Amino acid sequence: MESSIENTEEASALAEAVESNKFKTTGDIAFYRRQKKLLPGNSPYHALLDTLELSDCGATLQLLNEENKVSLFVELFALEDHVIRIKVNELKPMKPRYEVPDVILNELLTQRLSIVSKDGLSVTLATVDGCSQVLIIAKPFRMDVRNQGELPISVNSLGFLYFEHLRKKSQDEVNTRGSLLEGKRKRDTKTQKESEEDLGLWKEQFHEFIDTKTNGPTSIGLDFSLHGFEHVYGIPEHTENLRLKTTSQEEPYRLYNLDVFACKLYSRISVYGSVPLLLAHKPKQTMGIFWLNASETLVDISMNTENKSALGKTKKLKTDVEVLPRTDVRWMSESGIIDTYILMGPSPFDVFNQYSKLTGPQAFPPLFALGHHQCRYSYKDENDVKQVDAGFDVNDIPYDAIWLDIDHTEGKRYFTWDRTKFPSPREMQEHLRAKDRKLVVISDPHIKVDKKYPFYCEAKSKNYFVMDKNGEVYRGSCWPGVSAYLDFTNPIVRNWYANKHRLDQYEDSTDILFMWNDMNEPTVFDGPELTMHKQALHIGGWEHREVHNLYGFYQQWATAEGLIRRSGGIERPFVLTRSFFAGSQRYGAVWTGDNVAEWSYLKISIPMLLNLSITGISFCGADVGGFVQNPEPELLVRWYQAAAYQPFFRNHSHTETERREPWLFGEDNTRIIRETIRERYALLPFWYTLFYMAHIKAEPIIRPLWVEFPEEVNTFAVDDEYMIGEALLIHPVSEAGVTEVNVFLPGMGELWYHLRTLQRFDGEQTLRVSVTLDSVPVYQRGGTIIPRKTQVLRSTKAMEMVSYILYVALNFENSAKGNLFLDDGHSFNYQSKNQFLLRRFSFKDNTFSAVCADERGQYCTDCVVERVLVMGAVRPTCVTAHCPDGQVNPVYFTYNVKKSLLNIEGLQFNLGCDWMLKLHY
Ligand code: GLC
Repeated sequence: MESSIENTEEASALAEAVESNKFKTTGDIAFYRRQKKLLPGNSPYHALLDTLELSDCGATLQLLNEENKVSLFVELFALEDHVIRIKVNELKPMKPRYEVPDVILNELLTQRLSIVSKDGLSVTLATVDGCSQVLIIAKPFRMDVRNQGELPISVNSLGFLYFEHLRKKSQDEVNTRGSLLEGKRKRDTKTQKESEEDLGLWKEQFHEFIDTKTNGPTSIGLDFSLHGFEHVYGIPEHTENLRLKTTSQEEPYRLYNLDVFACKLYSRISVYGSVPLLLAHKPKQTMGIFWLNASETLVDISMNTENKSALGKTKKLKTDVEVLPRTDVRWMSESGIIDTYILMGPSPFDVFNQYSKLTGPQAFPPLFALGHHQCRYSYKDENDVKQVDAGFDVNDIPYDAIWLDIDHTEGKRYFTWDRTKFPSPREMQEHLRAKDRKLVVISDPHIKVDKKYPFYCEAKSKNYFVMDKNGEVYRGSCWPGVSAYLDFTNPIVRNWYANKHRLDQYEDSTDILFMWNDMNEPTVFDGPELTMHKQALHIGGWEHREVHNLYGFYQQWATAEGLIRRSGGIERPFVLTRSFFAGSQRYGAVWTGDNVAEWSYLKISIPMLLNLSITGISFCGADVGGFVQNPEPELLVRWYQAAAYQPFFRNHSHTETERREPWLFGEDNTRIIRETIRERYALLPFWYTLFYMAHIKAEPIIRPLWVEFPEEVNTFAVDDEYMIGEALLIHPVSEAGVTEVNVFLPGMGELWYHLRTLQRFDGEQTLRVSVTLDSVPVYQRGGTIIPRKTQVLRSTKAMEMVSYILYVALNFENSAKGNLFLDDGHSFNYQSKNQFLLRRFSFKDNTFSAVCADERGQYCTDCVVERVLVMGAVRPTCVTAHCPDGQVNPVYFTYNVKKSLLNIEGLQFNLGCDWMLKLHY
């Protein structure tokens, strides 16, 4: 058997890759150089208005490139819920161009478009509901999309529509290529001119890697002008601030999934995943541009200003002209077609909903996945696992799942066990099950080339691997040494792979075992930029170039499907992935990859997770403590305090780091970490309800402040604090040695309550808050009700029957509301059999009430609400409980004058019942 690369070598190879320019800068990307030759305002495209045709589902039109005389075909659709789709392809491509399949979940209903006005210069189309209008200007081609009379967006107004048509290689190009691309490209100034002229049409070179382009140049691009907008967000994944920056003087944002170990911060280079969705926001409108393309993509952003009169409004006197901000966004992709969805909002939640209708909802995970996860690269053996597990009990720290990294397998052969280290994996899983805990194991997409590995042999004999350009199985180096890569774009491969998770196929797996997909950009240690050669071939003969950003999406899909299938469709899966694309939210969770144990990486995790959250991927997190290097104890504590308030909560560390179990950092730190993790568990009903809302209503779980306060301009750039749902605001401490932090409490007329002291504050102010190592600023917003558990036990499952306490935070109107979702915590019965409870709590007119919020749901539980805590209340003379059977009884309460806190205890209301509490004065 071939030996594996040594762990230490792997790490240094990766680190070296970052330092030694293994990754491209934009100057190395030929299609970018080509597109950048285009000057603004010079679009050669001319809309042939006579070719306009209307049908039941939209409009079509031809464009002519006046320079090369190639025609394009534009399809325009007005979709339900205020979404405009624009598709551009060649009118007569020599062969089909790649159109991204499988990401759009629902074909949205289309509305008829009708012609409102037409002359030789332009045509105006309107939707039947009259909400949207599209003005198409013929020469140069441009589109203005109006909504409710406003003009929020123009298309190709800068003239950057770019479409390289498929062609045969001409003699000229052969000659040019010959002279420009021969030999290795040198990077010194002497050859700079030469490399500027190097257009890389049929071949391009990066270091020793030559990318021969069978199809020649196929790049596409388009610009959008967002009128009145100066705040744009999204297009993860980058180690950047939440608000996207102008790229005029700098590198564009790159979307090309890559394994960038310990990646540079505040950079627009690509990392592990891509969601080509950009959001734009201004006080009365949020919009989205979804660029559905899975090939390498670059996004240029520039902030400008324009005169309102220039937008087609009645011209005002010069002195009167209102200057508006404008953001121009230019998308450039290496291949495929232009397929873009303009999400018209107008509210942030409308945009989330529009996007989720297209790409699907956040998967609703099993409850355990919301608990605390303990991971390491790698736990040594069964005994190690059992000792770590026991350590949590000894130290009274809850956790839900322990994770096994690559070394649990026999020589990095996934779906096997290293029998020396793990002689009885089944028994180990039963041991965990007895404690109500789970196991998560890694499964990467590279498959060891080994004739004695049945998994490899079967996939090989069935032609399930990606092929190279010569028709052989594509080989690359990864953890196991020489590897082949499953072609997950092939539905037959996904089906086969899914079945490999069945309990009777995956030896010694049990139903408490869940999955982790890593290295699925995919990583190829000896490939260009540590990934797959673009000429590699997938099913249907498509080049890897076309599908690159989809590879991880497909693996996670197949894995999630496998877990669902092994339970006969009954149980909800849990799969963590490193690489992702738009729509990955349907299959599980995402983490931000190999971060470093430095304060700056803790800080950046906040905007990174927020940008994922607002682009559909709600279930996200970052490795607690930093994967690479050893965190100082203070950093580790602060990281726990931040991550306990983030959707995916996992401690993970590299093989070369010291052990990281939470009790190894001294008694004081253990105590603080314990309290932090226990607070996460106390708040589980709140988190679980938020996950359900993300699943059914596409509401992000963690949210930038501007999402909750869309009209308050001073929230728009905040990314050092955020909201959890609508109710909690957290400002994680992300700097060393800090004793005070500035916490911005937004909202004119809002009230906020410090979650620990319950002290009340007015909104619209910045507080200077003292912090000690054991405190983190978290505030509950007035007007909300948060359900919590009264007691914390060792895992989510162990806490199933623990009673509830409701934190009612009153606003200025003395009212509050909140929800609670409950089901069995693991199956699809909430969906297939309506076995769930959705409860609505409200406080109004001195009355607290609990009612059903979804009549379809039925779920029997013995669980009760035991306490209600009302913050901001006036002391009542008496409180009466109104029971479901009509009985009215006085109930016991205490009141804290200093804190205006009413505490009603000793209640025993079943969660499924309707009941009330009345405060009498
Ligand atoms: C990658 C992953 C990391 C994992 C390691 C070994 O670096 O990002 O989380 O521990 O591979 O599998």
